[in-house]
Amino acid sequence: MLTTIGRGARRGQPVRRLTVAARLPPPRLSDPVTTILQRLERGLAGRYTIERELGQGGMATVFLATDVRHDRPVAVKVLRPEISADIGADRFLREIKLAAGLTHPHILPVHDSGEADGLLFYVMPNMEGRSLRERLDAERQLPLEEALHITREVAAALDYAHRHQVVHRDIKPENILLHEGAAMVADFGIGKALSGGASVTQTGMTLGTPTYMSPEQASGEGDIDGRSDLYSLACVLYEMLTGEPPFTGPTAQAVIAKRFVSPIPKVGVTRDVPPALETAVTRALARTPVDRYPSAAEFAEALRVVTRSMTGPHRTPPESPKGATGRTSIAVLPLTNRSADPENEYFSDGMTEEIINVLGKVPGIQVASCTSSFAFKGKDVDIRQVGEKLGVGTVRGSRSSRSLPLVGYAPVQQWPRHETGRISARRAE
Ligand SMILES: Nc1ncnc2c1ncn2[C@@H]1O[C@H](COP(=O)(O)OP(=O)(O)O)[C@@H](O)[C@H]1O
Ligand SMILES: [Mg+2]
Repeated sequence: MLTTIGRGARRGQPVRRLTVAARLPPPRLSDPVTTILQRLERGLAGRYTIERELGQGGMATVFLATDVRHDRPVAVKVLRPEISADIGADRFLREIKLAAGLTHPHILPVHDSGEADGLLFYVMPNMEGRSLRERLDAERQLPLEEALHITREVAAALDYAHRHQVVHRDIKPENILLHEGAAMVADFGIGKALSGGASVTQTGMTLGTPTYMSPEQASGEGDIDGRSDLYSLACVLYEMLTGEPPFTGPTAQAVIAKRFVSPIPKVGVTRDVPPALETAVTRALARTPVDRYPSAAEFAEALRVVTRSMTGPHRTPPESPKGATGRTSIAVLPLTNRSADPENEYFSDGMTEEIINVLGKVPGIQVASCTSSFAFKGKDVDIRQVGEKLGVGTVRGSRSSRSLPLVGYAPVQQWPRHETGRISARRAE
């Protein structure tokens, strides 16, 4: 059973990701960040002065600190106490040491690592730029050239790491930090260290972020290789291009299951891209590793060819988050389950997601993502505020409607024929 245990972001930033851990207990109330901070301050006294919290992930908290000896700002990442205890210092320090041996322009270096008052930590440069997650939250889709550029830089970092026998295991927008125009991959070594924790190996389950996880990693295969990272990177590229990861769903289980049962979605359904780019994304997203590119370098090369071949007609202007693209922009808020049986909620959620997916395939319509729409689930919100927050130009519908509390405008005759058929069939179920 996968459990959502962590949702993190830089303070004050919107949260839109799902981190899962296998049967790991949620952080104990006796270990709030203040206690972790006190323990860290005690353990690092004289070496690092902790300034403030920078952000939290599912497994760790990151603090801004001053490296006393070098008088420079650094970021100190400290694993949650129960996870520190679970992994054990030896394993953690061994994996971090391997990661610290990686020297590459697109890999965030490790300055230091160790155990402080029983907590496992490592020290890295403080990145003042934004993470790719923050960029996507703000802009949703990136210009084509930029998406390709970021992907190629990350692919170069991965290829280097893979040639040094290090697989990242948690490639996601949160771990791609954008600094001085370059993409820097953070958290090498952490995925491997976490995957060896007792609570993980005992259950045979895995750690990571289901949205970007390869099928083989999701099914708990211990012996994954670089092609798993390649799959995750392709998910990130897909999201930069379309504004949504390739497989989404209301629960971690649903997201993972879709990798195995749903066809690989096409970028071209939501955005005009060169055919060679579509081919490259589809190949990198292949369910079976042997059907993907054999290496991240070959994926990067395919993207380089796409970049070089791009001429005027394929250039896609960046989209404004305010929906000022001249396209009809709509939001579909979660349908309400008005039946007596609360178990039917999965059905209303599934319907909502299906409608969003179908509308997303209609040319000329920009649809707010599932993640954005589901953020309003169960909330009493003002329609105008929803429109503003989601950056959609048109929000129609009313709460008086029996089944649709709020539905954006969509000219039904434009829906792809087979898709409307699918929706009707499900409605009739
Ligand atoms: N080197 C860094 N410099 C600045 N901020 C960082 C750095 N590393 C991580 N962060 C911030 O701390 C947050 C938590 O990081 P982390 O524990 O790795 O979780 P995740 O990668 O899942 O977000 C990140 O989302 C990011 O906002
Ligand atoms: Mg991270």
